[in-house]
Amino acid sequence: SKSYSITLLPGDGIGPEVISVAKNVLNFAGSLEGIEFSFQEMPMGGSALDLIGVPLPEETLSAAKQSDAVLLGAIGGYKWDRNEKHLKPETGLLQLRAGLEVFANLRPTTVFPQLVDASTLKKEVAEGVDLMVVRELTGGIYFGKPRGFDTDDTGEEIGYNTEVYASHEVDRIARVAFETARKRYGKLCSVDKANVLEASMLWRKRVTAIATEYPDVELSHMYVDNAAMQLIRDPKQFDTIVTNNIFGDILSDEASMITGSIGMLPSASLGAKGPGLFEPIHGSAPDIAGQDKANPLATILSAAMLLKYGLGEENAAKRIENAVLDALNKGFRTGDIFSAGNKLVGCKEMGEEILKSVESQVIAT
Ligand code: NAD
Ligand code: IPM
Ligand code: MN
Repeated sequence: SKSYSITLLPGDGIGPEVISVAKNVLNFAGSLEGIEFSFQEMPMGGSALDLIGVPLPEETLSAAKQSDAVLLGAIGGYKWDRNEKHLKPETGLLQLRAGLEVFANLRPTTVFPQLVDASTLKKEVAEGVDLMVVRELTGGIYFGKPRGFDTDDTGEEIGYNTEVYASHEVDRIARVAFETARKRYGKLCSVDKANVLEASMLWRKRVTAIATEYPDVELSHMYVDNAAMQLIRDPKQFDTIVTNNIFGDILSDEASMITGSIGMLPSASLGAKGPGLFEPIHGSAPDIAGQDKANPLATILSAAMLLKYGLGEENAAKRIENAVLDALNKGFRTGDIFSAGNKLVGCKEMGEEILKSVESQVIAT
């Protein structure tokens, strides 16, 4: 039988809660498809700061690099919010993404028919939405130099960052986005701020150049402010969206609400080689941590993306995706997606229901 090594990074807040559930689902779905996993749990984020003194210990990064795929919960929390930059949990996450060179972050936004009522948008606007945000993940203002704190001529304190993209960084994310659109509905919308920012002007120029390699994909461009509006006005106009690191961060949280909750959105971060990183798009949710209230579906669906995009194990992935739909069909809902007439469950119980459904799936091969 096939076997894979998985690095688990539970992290902070609800991270350990959702990872514990997703690990069981991943393990079980794999076993039903003749796949064996060895899991290695490593410290990351605030919990690594408390344990070892840095947000991404060397042992954690090297374990991640040596494994076949990495599944992360979430990091961060009030306790570390005022740490110096190099001692912030978030810095550890950026170091992990950079260390694994996972420049392409796929964030699918799918409105499940069962959850149309959970959306904050009108039924006719939300139903049928199926879009993919392709977010550049290892460049832009998150990593650009110069950056820092200083004082200006008048002695006033300043903080500054730089949005910078090199051609090759835009070219490679554009290719991932065109390939993604080609496998979906053939439409790609590149989102930028090319009316103001030089980095966006280069972005638009390079995306337009790469488009000549994909004549079958219909390319459009949109300014990010308009895109934020259009996502709420008529999200069904979008198929695949490609955008920079910070716009992708913001637009994907916005898009998540169309589906009912940020607790629904998984992600896959991929590079040219090496293991992929799979994580929900949400954070550590300190406001509900430790209460068994977190929606584990974003992490469970991230495990499905791990199987599909990380390992090429499509049947096991399908098992998990179907099981999620099955549990929703049966009316199981965590608080964030609850609506009248359904069964309110906690994180663990949702996990148990998915496990049952994983077993009953019949996968045609
Ligand atoms: P958040 O995503 O953690 O929470 C925003 C809101 O959504 C909260 O009300 C929370 O309860 C709710 N929510 C999030 N995930 C949920 C889930 N699975 N089920 C139900 N409700 C859920 O964002 P925030 O509050 O801005 O950030 C909290 C901490 O998380 C910060 O330290 C931040 O830096 C960090 N963060 C980490 C990641 C990550 O690890 N990838 C992502 C975003 C934020
Ligand atoms: C995310 C988060 C991270 C980001 C933070 C925690 C560094 O918001 O994964 O979306 O901005 O990328
Ligand atoms: Mn985010």
